[in-house]
Amino acid sequence: MDKVAAVDAEALEREALDAIAGAQTPAELDEARVHYLGRKSPLKLALREIRDRETGMRLNALRERLEAALERRRGELERPQEDETFDPTLPGTPIPRGTYHLLTQLRRRIEDVFIGMGYEVYDGREVETVWHNFDALNQPEAHPSRDPADTFYLDEQTLLRTHTSPSQIRAMMEQEPPVYLVSLGRTYRRDALDATHTPVFHQVEGLAVDRDITLADLRGTMELFASTIFGGERKVRMRTSFFPFTEPSVEFDVTCFLCDGAGCPVCKHSGWIEMGGAGEVDPNVLETVGYDPEHWQGFAFGLGIDRIAFLRHGLPDLRLYWENDIRLLSQF
Ligand code: DAH
Repeated sequence: MDKVAAVDAEALEREALDAIAGAQTPAELDEARVHYLGRKSPLKLALREIRDRETGMRLNALRERLEAALERRRGELERPQEDETFDPTLPGTPIPRGTYHLLTQLRRRIEDVFIGMGYEVYDGREVETVWHNFDALNQPEAHPSRDPADTFYLDEQTLLRTHTSPSQIRAMMEQEPPVYLVSLGRTYRRDALDATHTPVFHQVEGLAVDRDITLADLRGTMELFASTIFGGERKVRMRTSFFPFTEPSVEFDVTCFLCDGAGCPVCKHSGWIEMGGAGEVDPNVLETVGYDPEHWQGFAFGLGIDRIAFLRHGLPDLRLYWENDIRLLSQF
């Protein structure tokens, strides 16, 4: 019997494993179990008869292998039905991807340009004090922009900032020169809503304070900025202007990105596009924040982001920015 069991063992194992693997239902599997491992199965009978230790160990190992194979097959058969119909080669269900809002994209691009030049991105506040928004910026008491008809006041001392320039004041009061920063965000004015005016809009403010800063530095910075945002090689032109917080003050234009200065509808046939205001930081402002104007000079600039994107993409109406129509936003 020992010899017979030893010889039959291999054939028995092959046969049993085939039967287990071939079972297509739990009932078929149970049949195989009874047949090969049940109390009256040849294996169990042989195990009962065995006298020599070596054969006993081999047959016990065989029993364990068959039991393990049974368990595995049981697991496979009990797996949820869907798995059998799952086809991993089918293309997946597409998940629609969102995009960043056009203005967010532009804002980040502007930040990147200035970070590349070694500037810090400074987060200002949308709710500001009258002092930061006007007084510290050398804005006279009687200036029309202080009028409640133009500015959203929260109370006598606080308002929704009318420009990003108060970020200059906050940053300079927090840190010692040299300072190189840009500050971007929402600004608020009481404008009636139409195609070219929204009461909430976006500005980018820039400030560089160091030793021996001149308007030539400002021009170079603006040219690099405009070239990166609009593409190509943009030239900058400055026109004298007035802002209470800069002296001298300028307004600056860049050569039209569409016609390169030749004249087209985007630049109203002038070849130039108005960008924003800028100038050398007024010594009064430096004194207000505790910087010595004898030692430090700086330039500052501020411009609207909405208009840049508006021109860049030929949008017909500023209100589109706020409607969040996916058909528009998904184009950018
Ligand atoms: N704050 C000005 C505005 O909203 C724009 C501006 C002009 C900012 C000149 C500046 C500057 O920093 O130097 O119209």
